[in-house]
Amino acid sequence: MNQEDLFKNLIAHCKEYGFIFQSSEVYDGLSAVYDYGQNGSELKNNIKEYWWKSMVQLHENIVGIDSAIFMHPTIWKASGHVDAFNDPLIDNKDSKKRYRADVLIEDHIAKYEQKIDKDVTKASEKFGASFDKEMFLKTNPNVLRNQQKIDEIHTRFAKALNDSNLEELRQIIIDNEIVCPISGSKNWTEVRQFNLMFSTQMGSVSEDANTIYLRPETAQGIFVNYLNVQKTGRMKIPFGIAQIGKAFRNEIVARQFIFRMREFEQMEMQFFVRPGEEMKWYEYWKEKRMKWHHALGISQNKYRFHNHDKLAHYANAAADIEFEFPFGFKELEGIHSRTDFDLGRHQEFSGKKMQYFDPELNESYIPYVVETSIGLDRTFLAIVGNAYTEEKLEDGTDRVVMKIPAALAPVKATVMPLVKKDGLPEKAREIMDKLKFDFNCQIDEKDSIGKRYRRQDAIGTPFCITVDHQTLEDNMVTIRYRDTMVQERIPMDSVNKIIAEKVSMKTLFEKQA
Ligand code: GAP
Repeated sequence: MNQEDLFKNLIAHCKEYGFIFQSSEVYDGLSAVYDYGQNGSELKNNIKEYWWKSMVQLHENIVGIDSAIFMHPTIWKASGHVDAFNDPLIDNKDSKKRYRADVLIEDHIAKYEQKIDKDVTKASEKFGASFDKEMFLKTNPNVLRNQQKIDEIHTRFAKALNDSNLEELRQIIIDNEIVCPISGSKNWTEVRQFNLMFSTQMGSVSEDANTIYLRPETAQGIFVNYLNVQKTGRMKIPFGIAQIGKAFRNEIVARQFIFRMREFEQMEMQFFVRPGEEMKWYEYWKEKRMKWHHALGISQNKYRFHNHDKLAHYANAAADIEFEFPFGFKELEGIHSRTDFDLGRHQEFSGKKMQYFDPELNESYIPYVVETSIGLDRTFLAIVGNAYTEEKLEDGTDRVVMKIPAALAPVKATVMPLVKKDGLPEKAREIMDKLKFDFNCQIDEKDSIGKRYRRQDAIGTPFCITVDHQTLEDNMVTIRYRDTMVQERIPMDSVNKIIAEKVSMKTLFEKQA
């Protein structure tokens, strides 16, 4: 099955099993806005916990806050978002569809990259163990031609972005004969800038009402609170402030399910450092964050770094951690060296000092900031996209299983009485009553045991505990493991301990050390 079909199946599966619903579905939905269902919200909460504890609990010099979504409108003037938080948009005159010009070009480059990948796969299948990938990439004429094309477009593209040259962006689209995916035509409008912030009015009387913005990033809530936290927490540089919260962007092209949403959640951490030490910390956080991803056990080949072609208005270095989604490698997390831009601008616009007194250096300065910023919804998509598996079993039947890391699984264990009589439901309840204080668990009494296993596989429950007639005699139960489907007989009173070991986040934390 190709990636596109697999992705469609994943989206349908997320709906069918209570992970993600289209927002306002009964009113035909609201574009690029989604609701998380009963299993989705559990998984989301577990991802948040994994991130929060990794950042706050494991770092003595990082604390967390929860700032408001509404903020003083001048904050967005100071941060540069009012003037510079734009995407270049282009319309196709035939389909009347609107696109991001930069995304059209990036997708075009990705097509050449895919051609190279295809050639590599073909050659490695042909030559087997003797295949030398590096040599192939350096010498194969097809690869060289495609790589040259990528380099040509990329050089022009990076320059156009850095110069904010909208005409040149359009010219790249024209020169490369990029067509509208809907109409197939090259009938493009000019490229225009489009500000991504949502605005609304605060105040009851329209004449007095102030225009305020829904925050497009959580980071500014950290910047404007940095001295409050530093003073009340007696924090010494270097130190960090972490936050999880909603952000809003009026995305032009909101596609690919929860990858690009108009309302989404970010998990951000601003790390305040001495001026001049920011590159050391930038490298430190790049490595640290990659380890966080790798600890999840997803293949390391699915992650890569990508340096930004165009630095945001606040950054002197920036890289993305990209993940191989079903639609290719795309940004999952950003690591940005934001200099003293934000704090400096807030000092300028508010008239309040943003300086920190460094007792070791005996001097005051505005700290530099290295930020790690990850989308919670994109992390969710990476995890479910990787977990979703369609399997053909030895007996010829099919199963769909969500191989979600056990520590993040929405339901950790489901207890199943083999039949709904003879005291088995009561025994199952006894086990459940012990488990529920430690884990999110369920009891499932309906349908055949096979059907019940499939239902739990579909939501990613790592353990099923079956109670049968024998249990009443020897207090032994069957534990069934989701990924291997192996079943074992274990004493009833060891269930909590076995599950605790396997679902603990401790193993994920230790892998990051
Ligand atoms: N404070 C820096 C900042 O906001 P960003 O690269 O614009 O940087 C950080 O966003 C992360 O937020 C991205 O790596 C992505 O995971 C997530 N993100 C950004 N826009 C998003 C959207 N429209 N939908 C879902 N996630 C988004």
